[in-house]
Amino acid sequence: MAKDDGTGTLTAGVIAALRQAKSVFVLTGSGVSAESGLPTFRGVGGLWRTHRVEELASPEGFARDPVLVWTWYNERRAAHERAQPNAGHFAIAQLEDALDDFTLATQNVDSLHLRAGSRNVLELHGSLREARCTNCNAGRPFGAAGLPLDEIDHACGGRWRPDIVWFGESLPRDVWQKAQEAAARADVILVVGTSAVVYPAAALATNYNRSAFVAEINPEATPISNRVACALRGSAAEMLPRIVAALSARRTAPPDLSVGPSG
Ligand code: OAD
Repeated sequence: MAKDDGTGTLTAGVIAALRQAKSVFVLTGSGVSAESGLPTFRGVGGLWRTHRVEELASPEGFARDPVLVWTWYNERRAAHERAQPNAGHFAIAQLEDALDDFTLATQNVDSLHLRAGSRNVLELHGSLREARCTNCNAGRPFGAAGLPLDEIDHACGGRWRPDIVWFGESLPRDVWQKAQEAAARADVILVVGTSAVVYPAAALATNYNRSAFVAEINPEATPISNRVACALRGSAAEMLPRIVAALSARRTAPPDLSVGPSG
């Protein structure tokens, strides 16, 4: 694996691979939203540095203290609502526009990819737009203000919980199946803003496809860095627009009509 600060030949390598690609798969994590002002989980200032995962992101934590859990998710939902998609989210949406077979799988529950215009989005860990009943599985959307704390109990005897995946729970089966298939058929896989330590999502980067050109975009090294074709060491909002601009510059360049040596 080679490293690149985004100015060198490896960026050119990613662009060349994308030019040839018929199918592209992108896996994102919380780092793609960092430049929208949303904290990551494990970095400096990350959510899991100051909050206890087992209290806030597990079924057991929710059973113990649903008000605490909802208070936290309501705050996060409000922060998502205040945040705006950044140049990285928009660049991913533009990439989709340029390709027939494009799939984005995100671990994020912040909806920023959808707000940036991405369409074929697989939300691996669910979304913070909906609540689901722990008993009857009914769904209910909730808005920017979150779920009112006096409405946590559902009439059926269950409780409304955020419709997201917590530690110890399985990913939605259909979403996971589609993500695996998209990763397997891709010619290029871009892994953006994830520490690649949470499975099974992290497996999508390198475990389902032996021939794709895999590029990581992350300012820091991760456990998959030495298994990818190139690691672009920069931020998502810097690197992705650069890559997409280079691709579209080539696509829209006028044909060269100059007369040259015969050929
Ligand atoms: P992490 O906090 O584990 O990792 C964030 C990654 O983003 C790190 O590798 C950073 O180096 C990188 N990063 C930071 N700023 C960046 C930027 N501007 N551009 C690009 N990359 C940047 O977050 P995730 O990998 O998303 O799951 O965590 C995966 C899962 O663990 C989450 O979905 C969540 C969490 O616990 C559940 O809650 C089930």
